Amino acid sequence: MTTFYVTTPIYYANSLPHLGHLYTMIVADTIARSKRQRGIETFFLTGTDEHGINIERAAERNQRTPKEQADYVVSYFTKMTSAFGLDSAHGGYDIFMRTTEPFHYQGVSELWRRLTKAKTPKGRDALYKGHYEGWFCAPCAEYKTEDEYAKAANPADPPTCLIHETKLDRISEESYFFRLSDYDEALLDLYESQPEFVRPEARRNEVKSFVAGGLQDLSVSRLRSSVSWGVPVPDDPNHTMYVWFEALSNYITAIGFGYEQQACAIGLEKFWPPLPLVGKDILRFHAVFWPAFLMAGGVEQPRGIFAHGMWLDPTGRKMSKTLGNTIELDVLHRYFSIDAIRYFCLREMVFGQDGRFGYENLIERTNSDLASGLGNLSSRTLTMIHRYCEGRVPSGAISDSGRLAAKRAGVEDEAAISDFISHARDEFTRYFNEFAFSRALEEAWAVIARVDKMISDAKPWDLAKDEKQSETLRAVLYRAAESLRWLCVLLYPAMPNASKDIYLQLGLGDKPGATNPAQLTWGELREGTRPGEVKPLFPRIDKAKTMEEIKNQKSEVRYQKSEAAETRPSERVQVGDAQTGSGQHTTEAEAVPGVEGILNYIDITDFARIELRVGEVRTAERIPKADKLLLMTVDIGEDKPRQILAGIAQYYEPESIVGRKIVVVANLKPRKLRGYESQGMLLAASVGEEGKPVIATFAEDVPNGARLK
Ligand code: MSP
Repeated sequence: MTTFYVTTPIYYANSLPHLGHLYTMIVADTIARSKRQRGIETFFLTGTDEHGINIERAAERNQRTPKEQADYVVSYFTKMTSAFGLDSAHGGYDIFMRTTEPFHYQGVSELWRRLTKAKTPKGRDALYKGHYEGWFCAPCAEYKTEDEYAKAANPADPPTCLIHETKLDRISEESYFFRLSDYDEALLDLYESQPEFVRPEARRNEVKSFVAGGLQDLSVSRLRSSVSWGVPVPDDPNHTMYVWFEALSNYITAIGFGYEQQACAIGLEKFWPPLPLVGKDILRFHAVFWPAFLMAGGVEQPRGIFAHGMWLDPTGRKMSKTLGNTIELDVLHRYFSIDAIRYFCLREMVFGQDGRFGYENLIERTNSDLASGLGNLSSRTLTMIHRYCEGRVPSGAISDSGRLAAKRAGVEDEAAISDFISHARDEFTRYFNEFAFSRALEEAWAVIARVDKMISDAKPWDLAKDEKQSETLRAVLYRAAESLRWLCVLLYPAMPNASKDIYLQLGLGDKPGATNPAQLTWGELREGTRPGEVKPLFPRIDKAKTMEEIKNQKSEVRYQKSEAAETRPSERVQVGDAQTGSGQHTTEAEAVPGVEGILNYIDITDFARIELRVGEVRTAERIPKADKLLLMTVDIGEDKPRQILAGIAQYYEPESIVGRKIVVVANLKPRKLRGYESQGMLLAASVGEEGKPVIATFAEDVPNGARLK
């Protein structure tokens, strides 16, 4: 295998990114990095699905054009991918595919044209025009059969979608149909001949039984008069292509199907077939419809489709805003390092099964596995090299005479540790190739535990006191450093930042991803290498404090009435349906952060809403029975000074601040504190554990009332 192609689903452009999106991208990114590290030219695709009635409706609600709506959501997606280090600039995806791009229109039209000429395996036309009458769920972008909706109590009312609990649309119109019913045997043959076509095994069985149960033809167009936001059917512009047909085609159009320029830039021949990663809720589209479309289009099948599970909350419930158990991306980003999040996602969810995601678990894992585990091993090893070996990686060799002394100190032969780590590398790679990331990481952590034990047993701090044990001391530190080098290379795809940091600290440069793990050879860490400065990698997180902060932030986000929440009802939610049979619902549409919450970005107009002015403190006094508050009058260039209260009394004497120039938030809504109205707020830095306030001030003379911009 010289090339590899990995894809995530393309995400609906009607709602903002959430944990589910982040997760698949992290997995795809990890796989892509691991392939590249093994010298395989890799193409990683992600992007947005921008057409369809959902986006049209979201745009309408927000008084935008559909394209503006898509651009708006895409801007959040690109911010998210950049903030989490998943974009091309950070070595992540190669293309952020948008279905509104011309190459996609061209490519998908070409596929349609092929279908118009194609015969089914049973010799009939693959595409035909007919008439559709049925119930359509816009959020699912799917027609519903009787067992997929709940009838209304009043027969005159429309039924509701079992997933979204929203009313279905009655559709009765001319439509193109794809003759899916003729593909059952061909699909079953495909699942037989390519046993890994659908993974994991349990999902494969579900897909097989769905197909074996008989397939119905699929309506693949809507009248342009009902859905205009989409790709027009070639030579029949009264019809718009069905959004799933069009969206699934992204995997081929992105790399050049039906569009010469894109084909030259990337290359279908070069990268096809892909490994699509999808959530189990959208497996049927990928494992049944898409292969049938490809058969009709004469395109080779994917190398296999992997369906991952859903993130639930720590008690196993689906995530939803109403339950208050969602994971906000901006909160995640603020409190946790990217690698801690990546590690958690890969370690905690057995790939293919559902997993539980909670801030508490994330903090616990970060503290135990990263701060006390990997981070501590790295810092203690490097600190001791600085302390006992003059800042250079020592020789690991033990002379014959030294061997006895080493034995006496309980230090085993070098082969024991090198064999252990080589075996762990092989297992790690095997698991990685099977996408068993959690198991692979367990192997790496077994190495950490082993090296930690070696250090604790050998006690370098005691060895350093005994001249006769200098070889033993050096050997122990060499082994620890060499193990760390191996760990950096192994862990690079999963934790690119931490591996790079440790690699740098070891004095080996910043490219652990440039070494193929298969080529790791024990002993290649050169004696004399100069480790750099030791920096903490994963500071311990104070669980109680952080949980309290997160709780407060979460409620802030929840109470923000965001535009995104209004666009939300149309987002697709997970369904435990007959095909995937999970019975689990997952992250609901509303389980995404508010617009304001996303990764802390504000734009200039948001900033302009805050009126910051220079003020001069005229008077300041303490308030009886309020230890923390100072009552001040502050001149901000208005007729009368403002009365402002500030929680700085424990750190500033009233008289020390009279006459000081300060920064005042002038348009903060007045509020009462201890019976006094505060008509603004002063700005101060919050310093140290106890949050000591340090008032912001000016080095130059500035007039009262001047605006800060
Ligand atoms: N646009 C379609 C996909 C078209 S691909 C040709 C779509 N988009 S989506 O925005 O709804 O993305 C859904 C993806 O996010 C799915 O893969 C889904 O499984 C995933 N997740 C949504 N909630 C999730 C969790 N709680 N946990 C893990 N993944 C989740 O469907």
